[in-house]
Amino acid sequence: MGANLYFIGGGNMPSAIIEAVRRKAAAYPVDHIWVEEISRERAEYLASTYNTETASPTDAPDADIVVIAVRPQDDVAGVAASVARRFDPAKTTVISIVAGYTIAKLEQGLGHGWRVARIIPNTLTTVDYGYSGVALNGAAAREDVDAFLNTFGKVLYVEERLIDVITGFYPPNIVYHFIDAYVDAGVLAGLPRDAARAIALDTIIGGTEFLKQKDVLPQVLLNINNSPGGVGITEAYTLNKTGFAASIQSAVLAAVERTTALGGDAK
Ligand SMILES: NC(=O)c1ccc[n+]([C@@H]2O[C@H](COP(=O)([O-])OP(=O)(O)OC[C@H]3O[C@@H](n4cnc5c(N)ncnc54)[C@H](OP(=O)(O)O)[C@@H]3O)[C@@H](O)[C@H]2O)c1
Repeated sequence: MGANLYFIGGGNMPSAIIEAVRRKAAAYPVDHIWVEEISRERAEYLASTYNTETASPTDAPDADIVVIAVRPQDDVAGVAASVARRFDPAKTTVISIVAGYTIAKLEQGLGHGWRVARIIPNTLTTVDYGYSGVALNGAAAREDVDAFLNTFGKVLYVEERLIDVITGFYPPNIVYHFIDAYVDAGVLAGLPRDAARAIALDTIIGGTEFLKQKDVLPQVLLNINNSPGGVGITEAYTLNKTGFAASIQSAVLAAVERTTALGGDAK
């Protein structure tokens, strides 16, 4: 018998998760995936693309896991209260992917006795590089969520205070910004754009693979590459002078702060 999953909110992140769950069907069999989604068009798209079943806010099927996947600015407390009315805490574990929304707030909406996991996944699940930060409440155990979470990537259990940090640090956007700037740099220096893109992507994949194989931090390889008075150290000097590291670090800190602020504003 497979698991039964129920998603509330059927946007970009749930669809990436559902796609990964479908791909991992051999390791994690699923009998039902219900999606409760305001947009009828979106619900129909998910049903036709991922063979999900469309549910409504009055449905109360026998779900092992309910995933709350609305936006922080939506009525998260209302959704939690509606889950509490319809599902059974003895059977169902609640997983929230709502950025910034704390376990304490979820427990307030749900009431007493629920197993709750707050997770922060990302859309790299689609290419099998997903990575979820996970915090559990006192009632939940890793076994309640582990098999499901492993279908869409690696899982890192952390204290809840680190979830906002992972949210700001982890999304692939910062990497996309870097690639964008790097490709433009090649074009600025005279390369055709498709050549700059091809070199940039392979260099990033190759550089990452090399660091993983060597199991070292980048500084170790930079020390080897940057010979005295050479091209590499000249590039490093220019990056230092123009605040490259500080801009990445400021962007991540701002993203972490924004995550916390969004969660703080959420109902
Ligand atoms: N995208 C990511 O990479 C990512 C990563 C980690 C966490 N998250 C978190 O995951 C959550 C969902 O993100 P997303 O990117 O999937 O958002 P999204 O694409 O904007 O989708 C949210 C969906 O939820 C629907 N919705 C809102 N209130 C609802 C309700 N009460 N019942 C049923 N459906 C409802 C919305 O419908 P309407 O548009 O009609 O209102 C919309 O289709 C957010 O809290 C976000 O912070 C996202």
